Amino acid sequence: MSVKIFFCALLLRLGLSASDDFAYNGFKGVSLSLDGSAGITSDGLLMLTNVTRHAMGHAFFPSPLRFKNSQADNVLSFSTTFVFAIFPEHKMLGNGGFTFVLSPSKDLTKASADYFLGIVNITNNGNASNHILAVEFDTGQSTETEDIYDNHVGIDINSVISNYSKPAGFISDDDGKSQNLILLSGEPMQVWIEYNGTNMQFNVTLAPLWKPKPKIALLSSTINLSSIILDRMYVGFSGSVGTLYLYHYILGWSFNMEGKASALNLSSLPPLPQNLTSSEKKRKTLVLWLPLTIFLVLLTIAGATLTMVRKKKFSELHDDWELEFEANRFPYEQLYKATRGFKDKYLLGIGGSGRVYRGVLPGSKLEVAVKRVSHESKQGVREFVAEIVSLGKLRHRNLVQLLGYCRRKGELLLVYEYMPNGSLDKFLFSETKQSLDWSLRFRIIKGVASGLRYLHDGWDQVVIHRDIKASNVLLDGYMNGRLGDFGLARLYDRGAAARTTNVVGSPGFLAPELARTCKVTMSSDVFAFGAFLLEVACGRRAIEPDKQESEQVLVDWVFANWKMGTIYKTKDPRLGNDYVLEELDLVLKLGLLCSHPSPSARPSMRQITRFLNGDVPPPEMLPYQCHASGSF
Ligand SMILES: *[C@@H]1O[C@H](CO)[C@@H](O)[C@H](O)[C@H]1NC(C)=O
Ligand SMILES: *[C@@H]1O[C@H](CO)[C@@H](O)[C@H](O)[C@H]1NC(C)=O
Ligand SMILES: *[C@@H]1O[C@H](CO)[C@@H](O)[C@H](O)[C@H]1NC(C)=O
Ligand SMILES: *[C@@H]1O[C@H](CO)[C@@H](O)[C@H](O)[C@H]1NC(C)=O
Ligand SMILES: *[C@@H]1O[C@H](CO)[C@@H](O)[C@H](O)[C@H]1NC(C)=O
Ligand SMILES: *[C@@H]1O[C@H](CO)[C@@H](O)[C@H](O)[C@H]1NC(C)=O
Ligand SMILES: *[C@@H]1O[C@H](CO)[C@@H](O)[C@H](O)[C@H]1NC(C)=O
Ligand SMILES: *[C@@H]1O[C@H](CO)[C@@H](O)[C@H](O)[C@H]1NC(C)=O
Ligand SMILES: *[C@@H]1O[C@H](CO)[C@@H](O)[C@H](O)[C@H]1NC(C)=O
Repeated sequence: MSVKIFFCALLLRLGLSASDDFAYNGFKGVSLSLDGSAGITSDGLLMLTNVTRHAMGHAFFPSPLRFKNSQADNVLSFSTTFVFAIFPEHKMLGNGGFTFVLSPSKDLTKASADYFLGIVNITNNGNASNHILAVEFDTGQSTETEDIYDNHVGIDINSVISNYSKPAGFISDDDGKSQNLILLSGEPMQVWIEYNGTNMQFNVTLAPLWKPKPKIALLSSTINLSSIILDRMYVGFSGSVGTLYLYHYILGWSFNMEGKASALNLSSLPPLPQNLTSSEKKRKTLVLWLPLTIFLVLLTIAGATLTMVRKKKFSELHDDWELEFEANRFPYEQLYKATRGFKDKYLLGIGGSGRVYRGVLPGSKLEVAVKRVSHESKQGVREFVAEIVSLGKLRHRNLVQLLGYCRRKGELLLVYEYMPNGSLDKFLFSETKQSLDWSLRFRIIKGVASGLRYLHDGWDQVVIHRDIKASNVLLDGYMNGRLGDFGLARLYDRGAAARTTNVVGSPGFLAPELARTCKVTMSSDVFAFGAFLLEVACGRRAIEPDKQESEQVLVDWVFANWKMGTIYKTKDPRLGNDYVLEELDLVLKLGLLCSHPSPSARPSMRQITRFLNGDVPPPEMLPYQCHASGSF
């Protein structure tokens, strides 16, 4: 009898350990629970995301693991290690990432992609009933998740707002210095995640493949996981992509409960796809292949004439200092092909600063808008490019993402995310386009306010937009308002000599103090934002010279009506009765308040967003002498 029990216990024990500890050097034939974009390639790579944008994928070990002893609430120690590689669409900015995740359910299909990383969505983000623990490897920075860095590793508890995070990297055993690792580099890296159930220490360590595990962990925190982790949890990965796609690959993975995860056999991991490895690497291998090089040289000579013609056509300017920005640079040839040679058919518009073309990048098929800005002076080019690259790091869902640049003789090309619904002014002022209903207008206003607030105080340096108006607000595929052309006004006047003495901006949006000081500030942006609010509520332009004199300048006209108590007369007639009175009232009054002639009387963008979100009651308006029209 007792022998039988012992035998059963042994079987049970064996059964448990066989499923609680596992090691996969590649995933060929491995059964995981996959959903969304996730799949296992024929080579045995676990691919979490593919070329589909705004998509996610999950891969879980099929059965739940026991994380707690039945007699105590203590979370058991666990340890895992895996190797991953991320290939971006362009070797530049990413806006997605992946996580190693513990979840009570392996069905996370209700979670969202983009910055939600496939673990939560907008409604349950931060909710303690999620019981989700994740270690995120995030390539982008976004305000929504309060990321401090792009390219970071973080520990997330029930939320994509990390409780702990650090820029991706490792601490060298040799000199104790931190070294950065670029998650997007396409280079495989190994991760170790360890939790000690006794002293509750949670460690995350990262290193390039083949490097031994660094002695000091990148993240090491004491976390009491007992209320977060349930008795049984699923372990696995989530991957998520945004506007730009990324390939997230896991090459191998091992896990152990109450012990050290077994080491992976690095030499038997599946190979990464060759066509994805960076061109730099390819170049290095070519040098080794001498015969091939000779063949190529011959080929080059044969095609010399052709190449010279092409070279001239696609010639670019490159300086040594630009190497550090290489990742943000697009080859001119690629942009040329994307826009079919900058054909008029692809022209989206002509702005003060240059022509904008629509394009589809060859290969990735990403839709972009390419702006050609003439830029003659050699002086300040370096600062210009540095500034473009830093503007490219600004991430906010209400800003049009700057993806990169290209430099040629006499001109700069700026590459932006493409906004399928065009600019807001077309909807507001065109008779032919259908009118926008109030709820959409109010949402766009709130979005633009939040984007501008981010420019003013969401970043380590203040970015003044300088040219806020309806025609610089673009609408994405979901009709979200996104500020375009931010931060560049200053750059434009650096480049084009003729413009240096002008104050950049548009009549009707220029704060009166600019005439005296010529110094743009956050409150001159707020002034323009006020004029923008009135444009949206009244459905007309800030200045309309064809109107009778008292109505020509929108701010003055609304102000006069407010004094007479007839402010609602100024609302867009196309709205009819479809509006929310309190919201319309707020927008009109806020528009006037922002247009106050004295900069110090204008609210900050932070206050404005709080008014608009209803966090604080609407502002009290005091009458003031109105001569706010900035048309000087
Ligand atoms: C990529 O993932 C999506 C789901 O997100 C799926 O519908 C699609 O078939 C996948 N494409 C490829 C090429 O595997
Ligand atoms: C968010 O996720 C939760 C839990 O999976 C789900 O119940 C909810 O419907 C989701 N919300 C949205 C807006 O998708
Ligand atoms: C958290 O989620 C639970 C269950 O889905 C829900 O009942 C609760 O209202 C949510 N709490 C908050 C603050 O959203
Ligand atoms: C982690 O962050 C969430 C949300 O920010 C917070 O509710 C929670 O208390 C934090 N947990 C720990 C262990 O710090
Ligand atoms: C966990 O921490 C305790 C106390 O510091 C220590 O004795 C034990 O060896 C640690 N366990 C592991 C697996 O590191
Ligand atoms: C976690 O990291 C710290 C500091 O790097 C180290 O002292 C500790 O032993 C590590 N704990 C585990 C469980 O690996
Ligand atoms: C950890 O948290 C649980 C529940 O929140 C609590 O009962 C336990 O005492 C905590 N452990 C320690 C060591 O603080
Ligand atoms: C690791 O994999 C290689 C190649 O598959 C194999 O030759 C070697 O024996 C393996 N090493 C161990 C320790 O399993
Ligand atoms: C790489 O090659 C594979 C197979 O040869 C193909 O399926 C895949 O689409 C290629 N990827 C890219 C980005 O060209």
